[in-house]
Amino acid sequence: MASLSFDLSDKCAMVTGGTSGIGLAIAGALLDAGAKVAVGSRKPEKVAAALEALGEGRPEGSVLSAQLDVGDRASVDSGFAQAAEQFGKLDILVNCAGVNLKKPTIDVEEDEHRFVMDVNYFGPFYASQVFAKQCIKQGAPDGDGGGYSIVNVCSVTSFLALSEVTTYAASKGALLALTRQLAVEWTRAHGIRVNAIAPGFVPADQNRQILKSGDRGRRILECTPMERFGTPEEIAGAVAFLCSPAARFINGECINVDGGFMIHGVSDATPNDQE
Ligand SMILES: NC(=O)c1ccc[n+]([C@@H]2O[C@H](COP(=O)([O-])OP(=O)(O)OC[C@H]3O[C@@H](n4cnc5c(N)ncnc54)[C@H](OP(=O)(O)O)[C@@H]3O)[C@@H](O)[C@H]2O)c1
Repeated sequence: MASLSFDLSDKCAMVTGGTSGIGLAIAGALLDAGAKVAVGSRKPEKVAAALEALGEGRPEGSVLSAQLDVGDRASVDSGFAQAAEQFGKLDILVNCAGVNLKKPTIDVEEDEHRFVMDVNYFGPFYASQVFAKQCIKQGAPDGDGGGYSIVNVCSVTSFLALSEVTTYAASKGALLALTRQLAVEWTRAHGIRVNAIAPGFVPADQNRQILKSGDRGRRILECTPMERFGTPEEIAGAVAFLCSPAARFINGECINVDGGFMIHGVSDATPNDQE
């Protein structure tokens, strides 16, 4: 009996937030697995730099970029339509665009709360609707078993409380609930598997300051059996796997990619006293 493939040749993907950090690494991993990939984000200079970095040494037309804001429906509509038209189809959506906010909850302003929810929750919700409509238009997925696939980039805060990131945690908790809802509704109706990953702590533009402030970073490492932060590339492989035929029976799941942070209880050993 042949084993199932990890290959993504003939698949076409849209990665929102694919222009830096974890999203850029996810775009690279999908390309390395054989997919064609479109990346989208707000800032033209990041979109241009990502296109150049990802396209280097790859066949013409394998990478596209779109300037889009997931909080703005019109720009999601046009970015996805452009990718679908140029690739001829879409098979994979990775909802990776995200922003963070660390602030005492009592001081969070309504517009700050709405901004984070717009990008981290309503963005993926709307992008998923647009993607699903495109899949419905395309008809039943090809018969390799991978099918259509959505992967949402959640967080340890989808499961656990971390101090002073209440709005972010609410958005990522909602995103995990969305993952499960769509996995039930859309696999049956449209052949779209919907999964998530929950990355551990990876220094990136949106959280570098938070990880460095006070001794939060040190306490995170004390609760991480691997005793280090992750890299974007270490997060990305799980997404490529979830989109592949090898993952064709995985649906509604969230994979923790965190060096063991989520399973850590109380340990006598800490990085400080092991020298
Ligand atoms: N780093 C971590 O430790 C960690 C842990 C758990 C989960 N995550 C999640 O991983 C995802 C990627 O974050 P990252 O850490 O790699 O941070 P990052 O380097 O700051 O990347 C965020 C990406 O999202 C894009 N983006 C932000 N707002 C957007 C919007 N409204 N519309 C479209 N694109 C937008 C950014 O590009 P523009 O600025 O050009 O828009 C950028 O490409 C986020 O969802 C984050 O919550 C990160």
